[in-house]
Amino acid sequence: MPEPSIQPTTNNSSVPRHVAIIMDGNGRWAKSRNKPRHSGHRAGVKSVRMSVETAAQRGIEYLTLFAFSSENWSRPEDEVSSLMKLFVEALRREVDELHRNNVRLLFVGALDELSTGLRKKIAQSEQKTAANTGLQLTVAIAYGGRWDIIQASKSIARKVADGSLQLDDVNDEAFSAELQLSAVPDPDLLIRTGGEQRISNFLLWNLAYAELWFTNILWPEFDQNVFDEALSFYAGKQRRFGHTGDQVETTGC
Ligand code: IPE
Ligand code: IPE
Ligand code: MG
Repeated sequence: MPEPSIQPTTNNSSVPRHVAIIMDGNGRWAKSRNKPRHSGHRAGVKSVRMSVETAAQRGIEYLTLFAFSSENWSRPEDEVSSLMKLFVEALRREVDELHRNNVRLLFVGALDELSTGLRKKIAQSEQKTAANTGLQLTVAIAYGGRWDIIQASKSIARKVADGSLQLDDVNDEAFSAELQLSAVPDPDLLIRTGGEQRISNFLLWNLAYAELWFTNILWPEFDQNVFDEALSFYAGKQRRFGHTGDQVETTGC
């Protein structure tokens, strides 16, 4: 019998180990208040702060936030540049507090597409928090799921070509090891605010078995109660990973 390719990395607890969030709806939040779009992005920072605090309080080990997609480069120039400024500013303001709270920061995405100033801030914040042992907060910037898979495929192809990896040894585990979230278990729960029910090129590989939860709440209005609602939804799910419900109940697999 072949080994199943997807092995659960979760501990079957009612609390997800890894929550990923598509933070959507900032623009519409601003528009509904007759404000410019960038004020929606600014207002979203407090939801990020709350999410980090809540994740740590609820015992979540990994929180991954989608902050800027490969496709978001196509937005008007002034929106892109105000978002980039906001990232630098948020890092300047928040990193000390995150560090005090034992949070480890990691950034994933095509970071070489970012400005030198932002890359420097990213590197400093990763270095500063590298030894922290609390929540791991991963921020996806200039990230696309297809880009991630292409990078991984190139890396595998290089290894096969130089003989450091045999073609027959290319499996789930070897491939996952080349992805941006190689050191992180797959998300157990994906939350998307803003009403859309789509993945928008987020973690295409890693979300294979995630529970999906969507809300019409716009990102700047995402608060602890809404986060807890998503966590209760998760707690009520039976995760089967291809098994039958009876198998899960009797063996807990
Ligand atoms: C999400 O909010 C933030 C980013 C994509 C950077 P949006 O800016 O997409 O907000 P809406 O979807 O236009 O309301
Ligand atoms: C997804 O939101 C990307 C982020 C939240 C960073 P978008 O607003 O870009 O998604 P689409 O374009 O509506 O699918
Ligand atoms: Mg959007």
